Amino acid sequence: MTALLDIGEFSLSFRTASGTAPVLERIDLAVRPGEIVGLVGESGCGKTTIIRSILGTLPERTALIEGGHIRVDGVDMLGGGKAAQSMRGRGLTFVPQDPFASFNPLFRVGTQIRDLLRWRAAGAKNARSGSSRQIVEAAISAMLDAVQLPQSILAKYPHELSGGQRQRVMIAMAMLPQPRLIIADEPTTALDVILQAQILSLLRRLAVERGVSVLFATHDLAAAWEICDRIAVMYAGQIVEIGPREAFFDASRHPYTRMLLASLPEPGRNSEVIPGGVPNPLKPPAGCRFNPRCPKVTAICSEARPTLAAIASDHLVACHHPWPANAQATHA
Ligand SMILES: Nc1ncnc2c1ncn2[C@@H]1O[C@H](COP(=O)(O)OP(=O)(O)O)[C@@H](O)[C@H]1O
Ligand SMILES: [Mg+2]
Repeated sequence: MTALLDIGEFSLSFRTASGTAPVLERIDLAVRPGEIVGLVGESGCGKTTIIRSILGTLPERTALIEGGHIRVDGVDMLGGGKAAQSMRGRGLTFVPQDPFASFNPLFRVGTQIRDLLRWRAAGAKNARSGSSRQIVEAAISAMLDAVQLPQSILAKYPHELSGGQRQRVMIAMAMLPQPRLIIADEPTTALDVILQAQILSLLRRLAVERGVSVLFATHDLAAAWEICDRIAVMYAGQIVEIGPREAFFDASRHPYTRMLLASLPEPGRNSEVIPGGVPNPLKPPAGCRFNPRCPKVTAICSEARPTLAAIASDHLVACHHPWPANAQATHA
């Protein structure tokens, strides 16, 4: 199936005062139509940088695209052309990590939602006619029902909403333009665990009902496992493993993924800490960037970057020494 989001061999560096940091190395990632994909990795591994590359919100002077492509529905998102601009906000929408920062505190929630739709409809012929206003109001009202918010929310100011309500409004605003792809960057990190689960299952239900694809970035593998069809695991700017959700927990093959799983809290088991720290972004290790922390490391791991290769149906791993299927996660 043709991918809706197609990222291939994408590499990016940041120029910093202390030198150039090769932050993303040859990222290969696809999201198919109607699919929910998790992009999982520790803080600093490059999730937001991938998302900003798709959204075109990278800092112009410091971000250096080294190669590769990013396409949404066949449209090149890196060139800055008109097609990419009209894709953003229409075919492609965004749910941010901090919904509060995305609202204008001075305007009522309803005004901000209506403005969003007015902008979208600006090119349409009847945008200002009475009948199109009615259509917009009906769409907003139906969407509030879908995200389980009362209509009274429209008259409120952002600070009058709870964290969960704000994130429901964000999901409504991401859904209203009827996009094909929604990108969510740690959308529930600011919420408590119960609210997190509610918002994520709401996002999944709406996406499935409407056939919208979702790219969901999170540091929380368990959260991704709850709502995603496929999961991509990143470490220090490289994708190390991609597979269907069932492949994680039962059949993950990359040593980093296994250690990430062992580090999750679980009743009756002490979670294990992954020894060592994440590499210096200015000087990542050669070859596989996980090699200094890897229990299976050999010489080749610092000599050659392992490429993503299929190890089972729809399951790819970038590792010179992947664990065999169903081996227990063991490490010294
Ligand atoms: N504007 C920037 N300039 C320099 N380095 C940056 C910039 N933005 C992010 N980085 C660096 O890029 C790496 C990836 O960051 P980020 O994409 O935010 O990771 P994540 O979202 O997974 O936490 C980190 O080392 C971070 O310090
Ligand atoms: Mg981030």
